[in-house]
Amino acid sequence: MNLSEKIKQLAEQHFDDLVATRRHLHSHPELSFEEYETTKFIAQKLQENGYNLHAITETGGYIDIQGKNPGSKIIALRGDIDALPIMEQNDIDYKSQNDGKMHACGHDVHTTCLLGAVRILHELKDEFEGTIRCIFQPGEERLPGGASIMIKNGVLQNPKVEKILGQHVMPLIDAGKVGFRSGLYMASADEIHIKVLGKGGHGAHPHQNIDPVLIAAQIITQLQTVVSRHANPSIPSVLSIGKVIANGATNIIPNEVTMEGTFRTYDEEWRMRAHTLIEKMCNDIAESHGAKCEAEVRKGYPFLRNDEELSNHARTWAEEYLGAENVEDLEIWPAGEDFAYYSQEIPACFYRLGIRNQERGITSMLHTPTFDIDEKALKVGSGLMAWLAVRELLSAHSSPKVEEHSN
Ligand code: NI
Repeated sequence: MNLSEKIKQLAEQHFDDLVATRRHLHSHPELSFEEYETTKFIAQKLQENGYNLHAITETGGYIDIQGKNPGSKIIALRGDIDALPIMEQNDIDYKSQNDGKMHACGHDVHTTCLLGAVRILHELKDEFEGTIRCIFQPGEERLPGGASIMIKNGVLQNPKVEKILGQHVMPLIDAGKVGFRSGLYMASADEIHIKVLGKGGHGAHPHQNIDPVLIAAQIITQLQTVVSRHANPSIPSVLSIGKVIANGATNIIPNEVTMEGTFRTYDEEWRMRAHTLIEKMCNDIAESHGAKCEAEVRKGYPFLRNDEELSNHARTWAEEYLGAENVEDLEIWPAGEDFAYYSQEIPACFYRLGIRNQERGITSMLHTPTFDIDEKALKVGSGLMAWLAVRELLSAHSSPKVEEHSN
């Protein structure tokens, strides 16, 4: 039996455990940087294969799986572990038991697949040369991003990690398939925080007040010109305001309005110019009404660039493992992702794991209260991750060990 078939068989054998693991994680979600129980659970699962989670932040860590000649090459696999502040609306046995928290971005799946890959790689230790570092990373969903902290704390050092792979669920791709893109993939993502300070009072006497609600409305509208009138049309940019709090009443003009939003783009120079522009627009509009404004754009994650060579290789290897018909090309995706920090340090490849099942009604997008997956994807996610890691190590040693494939 060749290696890819062996891995597929192991993933198949482990399927029940993968489902149980994922359901446990799904029903016990924890928010970014508070993943204490999640990390305990991960450490326990790793213990089953004799690995001690090497803690590197309060709730994040890694293990090294050593093959033969472990110092010859080291690559990393990354899974993020945190959940979102969303109230789950799925009617399922494994529904979130933590009120207002939900694995709505599939990080329960990423963690499960990485644990599954660990189990497979542990069983294949004699079949590859080098070391595979498996990184369980907290805080992907919250600034400054768990990845940046892990990197600062040396997760890519001792010994130096040469390349890194990560996967993320994708509701637009059918379960059983995956997607790859080489080059620029995900956008920089910055937070916009605005507070308009007016003068509240009775809604019947607007002339005696400074209405921050109207000013906020103008700011929301005007900020759209950052993208439509100031951005070079060749640089994709997005600006959205998603939170507006004006806590007055039918007859009360509030003292202040707070707003939050996001700015995303794919050009570092324009990104910095846009930040200044956003802050200035907010201040100028407030000032023209005699109000004050505190506007701040907080820098988030940078671009995510997929290393061309690694990504092209990984795509080919995925075709070997899944068949060409199950590997898709991805379009640019303007969500932010802190895996981008790894991609700034070393050659990186971030690919997508299909989880959709239209027939079963599993079509909800990420970050929605009805997000769920076709669990069949857990087999692909764990097996492919193990396969890509082994394939990368084998290719580095130009070993003839991986020959024919069934596909
Ligand atoms: Ni995510």
